[in-house]
Amino acid sequence: MENKEPLIITDKDDMRRWSRSARAQGKIVGFIPTMGYLHEGHLSLVQECKQHSNLTVVSIYVNPGQFSPNEDLSTYPSDFIGDINKLKNKADGVDVVFHPKDLYDYGKHDGVVNARRNDLEEGKVVSCVENSGQGHETWVRVERLEKGLCGSSRPVFFRGVATIVTKLFNIVEPDVAVFGKKDYQQWRIIERMVRDLDFGIKIIGAELLRDPDGLAKSSRNVHLSPEQRKKIVDQESLEVLEEIKSPAVFCIAAWFGNVRLLDNMEIVV
Ligand code: PAF
Repeated sequence: MENKEPLIITDKDDMRRWSRSARAQGKIVGFIPTMGYLHEGHLSLVQECKQHSNLTVVSIYVNPGQFSPNEDLSTYPSDFIGDINKLKNKADGVDVVFHPKDLYDYGKHDGVVNARRNDLEEGKVVSCVENSGQGHETWVRVERLEKGLCGSSRPVFFRGVATIVTKLFNIVEPDVAVFGKKDYQQWRIIERMVRDLDFGIKIIGAELLRDPDGLAKSSRNVHLSPEQRKKIVDQESLEVLEEIKSPAVFCIAAWFGNVRLLDNMEIVV
Protein backbone atom coordinates (compact mmCIF):
# COMPACT_ATOMS: atom_id res chain seq x y z
CA MET A 1 0.00 0.00 0.00
CA GLU A 2 1.30 3.41 -0.97
CA ASN A 3 -0.23 5.80 1.61
CA LYS A 4 1.24 8.66 -0.40
CA GLU A 5 0.64 12.35 0.23
CA PRO A 6 -1.35 13.92 -2.58
CA LEU A 7 -0.12 17.09 -4.21
CA ILE A 8 -2.62 19.79 -3.23
CA ILE A 9 -3.32 22.29 -6.00
CA THR A 10 -5.49 25.35 -5.39
CA ASP A 11 -4.89 27.40 -8.53
CA LYS A 12 -6.75 26.48 -11.70
CA ASP A 13 -3.86 27.33 -14.03
CA ASP A 14 -1.50 25.15 -11.97
CA MET A 15 -4.06 22.35 -12.16
CA ARG A 16 -4.33 22.61 -15.92
CA ARG A 17 -0.50 22.72 -16.27
CA TRP A 18 -0.11 19.58 -14.14
CA SER A 19 -2.69 17.71 -16.16
CA ARG A 20 -1.32 18.76 -19.54
CA SER A 21 2.16 17.72 -18.50
CA ALA A 22 0.91 14.32 -17.27
CA ARG A 23 -1.01 13.70 -20.48
CA ALA A 24 1.97 14.82 -22.58
CA GLN A 25 3.90 11.99 -20.88
CA GLY A 26 1.25 9.54 -22.05
CA LYS A 27 -0.49 9.20 -18.67
CA ILE A 28 -4.23 8.60 -18.45
CA VAL A 29 -5.66 11.12 -15.99
CA GLY A 30 -8.67 9.97 -13.97
CA PHE A 31 -10.90 12.42 -12.11
CA ILE A 32 -13.42 12.24 -9.26
CA PRO A 33 -15.24 15.51 -8.50
CA THR A 34 -16.48 15.79 -4.91
CA MET A 35 -17.72 18.38 -2.44
CA GLY A 36 -15.55 16.88 0.31
CA TYR A 37 -16.55 15.39 3.65
CA LEU A 38 -15.56 12.09 2.12
CA HIS A 39 -17.01 8.72 3.12
CA GLU A 40 -16.49 5.15 1.94
CA GLY A 41 -18.70 5.74 -1.10
CA HIS A 42 -16.28 8.42 -2.37
CA LEU A 43 -13.28 6.20 -1.62
CA SER A 44 -14.82 3.43 -3.71
CA LEU A 45 -15.06 5.92 -6.62
CA VAL A 46 -11.33 6.51 -6.23
CA GLN A 47 -10.67 2.77 -6.37
CA GLU A 48 -12.86 2.49 -9.47
CA CYS A 49 -11.03 5.40 -11.11
CA LYS A 50 -7.66 3.73 -10.52
CA GLN A 51 -8.83 0.78 -12.64
CA HIS A 52 -9.14 3.11 -15.64
CA SER A 53 -6.27 5.59 -15.24
CA ASN A 54 -2.57 5.99 -14.35
CA LEU A 55 -2.97 9.15 -12.28
CA THR A 56 -5.90 10.22 -10.11
CA VAL A 57 -7.20 13.71 -9.34
CA VAL A 58 -9.88 14.31 -6.70
CA SER A 59 -11.46 17.75 -6.51
CA ILE A 60 -12.85 19.05 -3.24
CA TYR A 61 -15.05 22.06 -3.82
CA VAL A 62 -18.45 22.91 -2.36
CA ASN A 63 -20.19 24.39 -5.39
CA PRO A 64 -22.40 27.37 -4.47
CA GLY A 65 -23.92 27.25 -7.96
CA GLN A 66 -25.94 24.13 -7.17
CA PHE A 67 -27.55 25.55 -4.01
CA SER A 68 -30.53 27.89 -3.94
CA PRO A 69 -30.20 30.80 -1.49
CA ASN A 70 -32.71 29.06 0.81
CA GLU A 71 -30.65 25.82 0.92
CA ASP A 72 -27.90 24.80 3.33
CA LEU A 73 -24.71 26.02 1.62
CA SER A 74 -23.44 27.78 4.75
CA THR A 75 -23.81 24.67 6.91
CA TYR A 76 -22.53 22.14 4.36
CA PRO A 77 -20.06 19.97 6.33
CA SER A 78 -16.34 20.10 5.59
CA ASP A 79 -13.22 18.43 7.00
CA PHE A 80 -10.36 19.04 4.59
CA ILE A 81 -7.61 17.50 6.78
CA GLY A 82 -9.80 14.47 7.48
CA ASP A 83 -10.47 14.13 3.74
CA ILE A 84 -6.76 14.19 2.90
CA ASN A 85 -6.07 11.55 5.57
CA LYS A 86 -8.82 9.31 4.22
CA LEU A 87 -7.51 9.63 0.67
CA LYS A 88 -4.00 8.87 1.92
CA ASN A 89 -4.80 5.99 4.24
CA LYS A 90 -7.97 4.37 2.95
CA ALA A 91 -7.85 4.96 -0.81
CA ASP A 92 -4.12 4.03 -1.12
CA GLY A 93 -3.39 7.60 -2.08
CA VAL A 94 -4.36 9.83 -4.96
CA ASP A 95 -1.96 11.93 -7.00
CA VAL A 96 -3.62 15.34 -6.79
CA VAL A 97 -6.30 16.99 -4.69
CA PHE A 98 -7.64 20.05 -6.50
CA HIS A 99 -9.00 22.38 -3.83
CA PRO A 100 -9.83 25.78 -5.35
CA LYS A 101 -10.95 28.62 -3.12
CA ASP A 102 -13.62 29.77 -5.53
CA LEU A 103 -14.45 29.02 -9.14
CA TYR A 104 -16.98 31.78 -9.85
CA ASP A 105 -16.66 35.43 -10.66
CA TYR A 106 -19.29 37.05 -8.46
CA GLY A 107 -18.84 40.50 -9.91
CA LYS A 108 -19.72 43.28 -7.50
CA HIS A 109 -20.95 42.07 -4.10
CA ASP A 110 -22.97 45.13 -3.04
CA GLY A 111 -26.63 44.37 -2.58
CA VAL A 112 -26.24 40.66 -3.31
CA VAL A 113 -28.38 39.51 -0.42
CA ASN A 114 -31.22 41.88 -1.23
CA ALA A 115 -31.03 41.06 -4.91
CA ARG A 116 -31.36 37.36 -4.09
CA ARG A 117 -34.23 38.01 -1.73
CA ASN A 118 -36.07 40.09 -4.36
CA ASP A 119 -35.50 37.42 -6.99
CA LEU A 120 -36.80 34.79 -4.63
CA GLU A 121 -39.87 36.83 -3.79
CA GLU A 122 -40.59 37.23 -7.51
CA GLY A 123 -40.41 33.44 -7.83
CA LYS A 124 -37.25 33.48 -10.00
CA VAL A 125 -35.01 30.42 -9.99
CA VAL A 126 -31.69 31.65 -8.61
CA SER A 127 -28.60 30.04 -7.13
CA CYS A 128 -26.14 31.24 -4.52
CA VAL A 129 -23.79 32.69 -7.17
CA GLU A 130 -26.35 34.95 -8.81
CA ASN A 131 -26.69 38.58 -7.95
CA SER A 132 -28.06 41.65 -9.64
CA GLY A 133 -26.79 40.55 -13.02
CA GLN A 134 -23.06 41.04 -12.56
CA GLY A 135 -20.52 38.25 -12.37
CA HIS A 136 -21.20 34.70 -13.48
CA GLU A 137 -24.01 34.31 -16.02
CA THR A 138 -23.27 31.26 -18.19
CA TRP A 139 -25.06 28.02 -17.30
CA VAL A 140 -25.08 24.53 -18.78
CA ARG A 141 -28.49 22.86 -18.81
CA VAL A 142 -29.45 19.34 -19.81
CA GLU A 143 -32.96 20.44 -20.45
CA ARG A 144 -35.11 17.33 -20.28
CA LEU A 145 -33.12 15.14 -17.88
CA GLU A 146 -32.76 17.91 -15.30
CA LYS A 147 -36.52 18.04 -14.83
CA GLY A 148 -38.28 15.65 -12.48
CA LEU A 149 -36.96 13.51 -9.61
CA CYS A 150 -34.48 15.64 -7.60
CA GLY A 151 -34.79 18.49 -10.14
CA SER A 152 -38.45 19.09 -9.29
CA SER A 153 -37.68 20.07 -5.69
CA ARG A 154 -34.23 21.61 -6.32
CA PRO A 155 -34.68 23.80 -9.42
CA VAL A 156 -31.10 25.13 -9.70
CA PHE A 157 -29.35 21.93 -8.62
CA PHE A 158 -28.64 20.15 -11.92
CA ARG A 159 -27.94 23.37 -13.78
CA GLY A 160 -25.32 24.11 -11.10
CA VAL A 161 -23.90 20.58 -11.24
CA ALA A 162 -23.64 20.54 -15.06
CA THR A 163 -21.99 23.97 -15.00
CA ILE A 164 -19.41 23.20 -12.31
CA VAL A 165 -18.59 19.81 -13.82
CA THR A 166 -18.03 21.56 -17.17
CA LYS A 167 -15.74 24.07 -15.45
CA LEU A 168 -13.87 21.31 -13.64
CA PHE A 169 -13.51 19.28 -16.85
CA ASN A 170 -12.08 22.37 -18.55
CA ILE A 171 -9.59 22.89 -15.71
CA VAL A 172 -8.58 19.30 -14.89
CA GLU A 173 -8.79 18.08 -18.50
CA PRO A 174 -9.13 14.41 -17.49
CA ASP A 175 -9.35 11.41 -19.80
CA VAL A 176 -11.77 9.57 -17.52
CA ALA A 177 -14.18 10.77 -14.81
CA VAL A 178 -16.08 8.66 -12.29
CA PHE A 179 -19.54 9.43 -10.87
CA GLY A 180 -21.46 7.35 -8.35
CA LYS A 181 -24.68 5.71 -9.49
CA LYS A 182 -26.07 6.55 -6.09
CA ASP A 183 -26.71 9.99 -7.57
CA TYR A 184 -28.35 8.34 -10.56
CA GLN A 185 -29.92 11.39 -12.18
CA GLN A 186 -26.66 13.33 -11.80
CA TRP A 187 -24.69 10.50 -13.45
CA ARG A 188 -27.12 10.29 -16.39
CA ILE A 189 -27.09 14.08 -16.82
CA ILE A 190 -23.29 14.23 -16.93
CA GLU A 191 -23.16 11.31 -19.34
CA ARG A 192 -25.65 13.06 -21.62
CA MET A 193 -23.86 16.41 -21.36
CA VAL A 194 -20.54 14.82 -22.33
CA ARG A 195 -22.21 13.14 -25.31
CA ASP A 196 -24.13 16.22 -26.45
CA LEU A 197 -21.24 18.68 -26.05
CA ASP A 198 -18.47 16.36 -27.34
CA PHE A 199 -16.23 16.37 -24.29
CA GLY A 200 -13.44 13.87 -25.00
CA ILE A 201 -13.90 12.31 -21.56
CA LYS A 202 -15.01 8.78 -20.72
CA ILE A 203 -17.68 8.81 -18.00
CA ILE A 204 -17.83 5.82 -15.69
CA GLY A 205 -20.84 5.15 -13.49
CA ALA A 206 -19.65 3.37 -10.34
CA GLU A 207 -21.95 0.99 -8.51
CA LEU A 208 -23.08 2.19 -5.12
CA LEU A 209 -21.80 0.65 -1.92
CA ARG A 210 -24.26 -0.85 0.53
CA ASP A 211 -24.21 -1.64 4.20
CA PRO A 212 -24.90 -5.32 5.05
CA ASP A 213 -28.61 -4.53 5.50
CA GLY A 214 -28.73 -3.22 1.92
CA LEU A 215 -28.81 0.50 2.68
CA ALA A 216 -26.69 2.66 0.33
CA LYS A 217 -23.60 3.92 2.16
CA SER A 218 -23.81 7.51 3.31
CA SER A 219 -22.57 9.35 6.37
CA ARG A 220 -26.15 10.56 6.83
CA ASN A 221 -27.85 7.14 6.96
CA VAL A 222 -28.30 7.57 10.66
CA HIS A 223 -30.90 10.24 9.89
CA LEU A 224 -33.03 8.09 7.57
CA SER A 225 -36.72 8.69 8.17
CA PRO A 226 -39.61 6.46 7.08
CA GLU A 227 -40.97 9.42 5.12
CA GLN A 228 -40.02 8.58 1.55
CA ARG A 229 -40.85 9.34 -2.04
CA LYS A 230 -40.63 6.48 -4.52
CA LYS A 231 -40.72 6.30 -8.40
CA ILE A 232 -39.81 3.82 -11.05
CA VAL A 233 -38.42 5.40 -14.06
CA ASP A 234 -36.89 4.47 -17.39
CA GLN A 235 -33.04 4.16 -17.14
CA GLU A 236 -32.28 6.31 -20.21
CA SER A 237 -35.04 8.93 -20.31
CA LEU A 238 -35.71 9.03 -16.53
CA GLU A 239 -39.42 9.27 -17.39
CA VAL A 240 -41.93 7.66 -15.03
CA LEU A 241 -43.08 4.20 -16.19
CA GLU A 242 -46.55 2.78 -15.69
CA GLU A 243 -45.28 -0.68 -16.55
CA ILE A 244 -41.70 -2.05 -16.60
CA LYS A 245 -40.98 -3.14 -20.18
CA SER A 246 -37.51 -1.59 -20.69
CA PRO A 247 -34.49 -1.43 -18.31
CA ALA A 248 -35.74 0.62 -15.38
CA VAL A 249 -34.35 2.16 -12.24
CA PHE A 250 -36.05 2.35 -8.91
CA CYS A 251 -35.24 5.74 -7.32
CA ILE A 252 -35.85 6.83 -3.76
CA ALA A 253 -35.33 10.22 -2.16
CA ALA A 254 -35.94 10.22 1.57
CA TRP A 255 -36.08 13.30 3.74
CA PHE A 256 -35.17 13.74 7.39
CA GLY A 257 -35.66 17.40 8.35
CA ASN A 258 -33.79 19.14 5.54
CA VAL A 259 -31.31 16.25 4.97
CA ARG A 260 -31.97 14.47 1.70
CA LEU A 261 -30.84 10.85 1.20
CA LEU A 262 -30.77 9.06 -2.15
CA ASP A 263 -30.83 5.43 -3.23
CA ASN A 264 -31.67 3.58 -6.45
CA MET A 265 -31.61 0.13 -7.98
CA GLU A 266 -31.39 -0.77 -11.67
CA ILE A 267 -33.89 -3.35 -12.90
CA VAL A 268 -33.03 -5.39 -16.01
CA VAL A 269 -35.96 -6.90 -17.95
O1 PAF B 1 -21.93 14.75 -6.36
C1 PAF B 1 -21.37 15.78 -5.90
O2 PAF B 1 -20.71 15.74 -4.86
C2 PAF B 1 -21.50 17.10 -6.64
O3 PAF B 1 -22.78 17.28 -7.17
C3 PAF B 1 -20.43 17.31 -7.71
C4 PAF B 1 -20.53 16.30 -8.85
C5 PAF B 1 -19.04 17.21 -7.08
C6 PAF B 1 -20.56 18.70 -8.34
O4 PAF B 1 -20.42 19.71 -7.38
